[in-house]
Amino acid sequence: MKIESICCIGAGYVGGPTMTVIAKQCPQIKVTVVDVNQERINAWNDNNLDNLPVFEPGLAAIVEETRGKNLFFSTDIDTAINEAEMIFISVNTPTKTYGKGKGMAADLKYIELCARQIAKVAKQNKIVVEKSTLPVRTASAIKSILDHTGNGVEFQILSNPEFLAEGTAVQDLLNPDRVLIGGDRSSEEGKRAMQALVDIYANWVPRDKVLTTNVWSSELSKLTANAFLAQRVSSINAISELCEKTGADVNEVAKAIGMDSRIGSKFLKASVGFGGSCFQKDILNLVYIAKSYGLNEVADYWEQVILMNEHQKNRFSDKIVNTLYNTVSGKKITFLGWAFKKDTNDTRESAAIKVADNLLNEQANIAVFDPKVAKERVYSDLEYLNTRSNEENKEQLEVKNDPYKACHGAHAIAILTEWDEFKNYDWEKIYDSMNKPAFLFDGRGILDKKNLEKVGFIYYKIGVGE
Ligand code: UDX
Ligand code: ADP
Repeated sequence: MKIESICCIGAGYVGGPTMTVIAKQCPQIKVTVVDVNQERINAWNDNNLDNLPVFEPGLAAIVEETRGKNLFFSTDIDTAINEAEMIFISVNTPTKTYGKGKGMAADLKYIELCARQIAKVAKQNKIVVEKSTLPVRTASAIKSILDHTGNGVEFQILSNPEFLAEGTAVQDLLNPDRVLIGGDRSSEEGKRAMQALVDIYANWVPRDKVLTTNVWSSELSKLTANAFLAQRVSSINAISELCEKTGADVNEVAKAIGMDSRIGSKFLKASVGFGGSCFQKDILNLVYIAKSYGLNEVADYWEQVILMNEHQKNRFSDKIVNTLYNTVSGKKITFLGWAFKKDTNDTRESAAIKVADNLLNEQANIAVFDPKVAKERVYSDLEYLNTRSNEENKEQLEVKNDPYKACHGAHAIAILTEWDEFKNYDWEKIYDSMNKPAFLFDGRGILDKKNLEKVGFIYYKIGVGE
């Protein structure tokens, strides 16, 4: 079976970059990315590539190369579904905010809406690929909806979890560690559908990196991979607190343990806490699934990774308050960074949000500078927490587009994201413009302690004892 036309429902952080790279690597395939959000589609179609809705290093150049040739962005979902032999579902699956499983289970309403729309529109057989992060056994729910509401056409459901990390999405997509494809290996149709997707990746991914499994293994592997990665971050963050108490340096500890080839060096960077759309959501999913099978010890084990992360964020804001003589009321604190990591404009679950919320509760005035995050995004992140009114947030927090202005007159600076440019700032100039004593809280451990102390800062680095 040869695929000539692909449709992807959902033009977000996953769908956009993934389809752009598929379009680049498979010029013979027409790729159409659709979304209900007209504004987002307009932004993907914008002639000014700075306006693309997703910032990823290297992405704009590939969009420019492929858009209008074999890559299209549209809100005409029905036409795109109809034309395509293969449909990727890449819509958001946030944690439920209501009802049973509130705060834990994934909200599958967007997935279900997609499945119903595909069923309504499809007039020929289709391969449906789940790309969103989903709880185990979602594929069978999609299949059931398609089979019971469709026009009598055949649907094959594949699970093809996305492992790209934001900020490195293009590289991750071009050179993936592995590609995972789950499907129904017990039927000929299932095998054919899996082969069709294998053939697409074969355009650029070595065959031995493409793994095929049953659907449930594939779905669970995605949750497990993220849970393991998040667990490493929480583990090193737990050690960072101990380092501060004992006079050890978490960076030295991380280097020492990372050189053990069984442990490895990646994902051992202590931080103010992990964020992003996946880690917390996927672990909560895992916890919810474990609980629903009565596996309480399994659930508690993984939940601790999240509790540790919450503690790390709270510990950081507590450190700021305690150091500033137990009060930040009316003091200006400048945040450098708001994104959940560098090289992305995504802020979902960013540690900065919680740290800001805690400090606003202490009546601090906050100034925020992030190289890629828009002002409206910062306010909507805070509004989502619902801790105080939007007006109050705007009164207490300002977003600046110049880092030097953001730092001017501040009592303290807090680094929340590890943007490279922060390392090259004129720290003397910043110091001179601040209130004294001038404090610097490095939640990402990116600056040089000796240099900053020489400038005059009282400098705290996460995980480094006195
Ligand atoms: C993650 C997975 O890496 C990816 O495979 C999956 O597809 C989606 O979820 P992402 O959330 O984009 O990707 O970013 P990632 O690089 O994993 O970072 C997640 C969070 O952990 C960030 O807030 C990051 O700053 C933090 N982190 C990561 C640390 O604090 N220390 C580390 O050593 C690594
Ligand atoms: P992710 O990080 O998983 O890509 P995003 O929130 O960035 O998540 O993107 C998901 C996209 O899916 C959003 O742009 C949203 O508008 C879109 N979407 C959600 N539900 C539907 C739907 N039923 N049909 C089309 N697009 C949808």
